[in-house]
Amino acid sequence: VLYGVVLAGGTGTRLWPLSRAGHPKFLHPLTGTEASLLQATVDRLDTLTSPERVFVVTGVAHAAAVSRQLTAVPVENVLVEPSPRDSCAAIALAAAVIARKDPEAIMGSFASDHLIADKPEFAAVIRRAMAGARDGLLMTLGITPTRPETGYGYLQCGGAVGDGPALRVEEFKEKPSYDVAEAYVKSGNYLWNAGMFVWRVDVFLSELARQQPQLAAGVRRIAAAWGTAEQEEVLGEVWPTLPRISVDYAVMEGAAAAGRVGTVPGDFGWNDVGDFHTLGEVLTADPAGNVVVGHDTGEAAKPTVLLRDTENLVVVPGSGRLVAAMGVRDLVIVDTADAVLICPRERAQEVKSLVDQLKELG
Ligand code: GDD
Ligand code: MG
Repeated sequence: VLYGVVLAGGTGTRLWPLSRAGHPKFLHPLTGTEASLLQATVDRLDTLTSPERVFVVTGVAHAAAVSRQLTAVPVENVLVEPSPRDSCAAIALAAAVIARKDPEAIMGSFASDHLIADKPEFAAVIRRAMAGARDGLLMTLGITPTRPETGYGYLQCGGAVGDGPALRVEEFKEKPSYDVAEAYVKSGNYLWNAGMFVWRVDVFLSELARQQPQLAAGVRRIAAAWGTAEQEEVLGEVWPTLPRISVDYAVMEGAAAAGRVGTVPGDFGWNDVGDFHTLGEVLTADPAGNVVVGHDTGEAAKPTVLLRDTENLVVVPGSGRLVAAMGVRDLVIVDTADAVLICPRERAQEVKSLVDQLKELG
């Protein structure tokens, strides 16, 4: 059996102003479907585990919304972080809480903000990864790279684990520079890390203790108090002291160097929809390449879009206003109640730094 851990953390700043601190990316039904990305993530696990074995790690601001969206997941399985400490602390907390129930449990860690088109194939890949996890490897899912993306982790593939199909990972390199990423993609020997992991909780926790002793000790203290009267006090005291680092840097790079990482190459229509350009690429475009992203803002008003002689636009209506565009191409246009974004599609990645600039302005 699998314990599913869903990380509902980051705010997805590259999708500003659609994704906001108050209403982050994972709560949105980005593709115009009924379900939010978070709901789709949990739904995708239904053949692999049951709702009582699904845990969600999220921030205090979103815990209520998470529980409201995931009615089948027990409320006590929503692990609430007092503040964001990046993915390593979130994953470690879930691993330690699960280890108390079942010390050799196999857990899968899943990002709550990815699109996956082929659910059956995804489940098949996870089952293959579970076999590698049983053998004591920290398993990743590997995606064939299509461009030198610098926002991803890269897996250098080695020989087969046993009879395969899992492969050894010789090197795990998180977010390389553009030149390095380009060389990796050219070599044909690297896969993208999909950002989902499968391992035995005891194996992960001992690797954490080896590489991040402070984080491991802190999480051990929190887990020991979990579910007792001291939970909030210990959490409030220890959590802010935990190193703020992602699991990729904190554990995976070093574990791969020690020969403890494996990967299952998978082709299940994965997309991490990090920015509006990528979102546009995965949705259906009209013959001129324009994509109108449907999403439910919870408002009654129907969004409308009028396009004339436009090409290759990504338009996100949402404020209830009409969005009209004429004679422009290759733009992102996002309308929300209190902010409008217009930028070239090729600069969609930079929205993150635009938001940083906004924060500086206060
Ligand atoms: N609960 C919680 N708390 N979750 C968090 C936190 C946190 O403080 N910080 C990040 N997360 C969650 C995010 O919600 C996301 O689901 C996941 O952890 C990964 O964090 P991102 O910030 O989205 O990481 P990334 O996209 O830069 O990189 C990761 O994913 C790539 C694929 O999309 C890495 O694993 C890369 O190696 C990978 O290629
Ligand atoms: Mg991400």
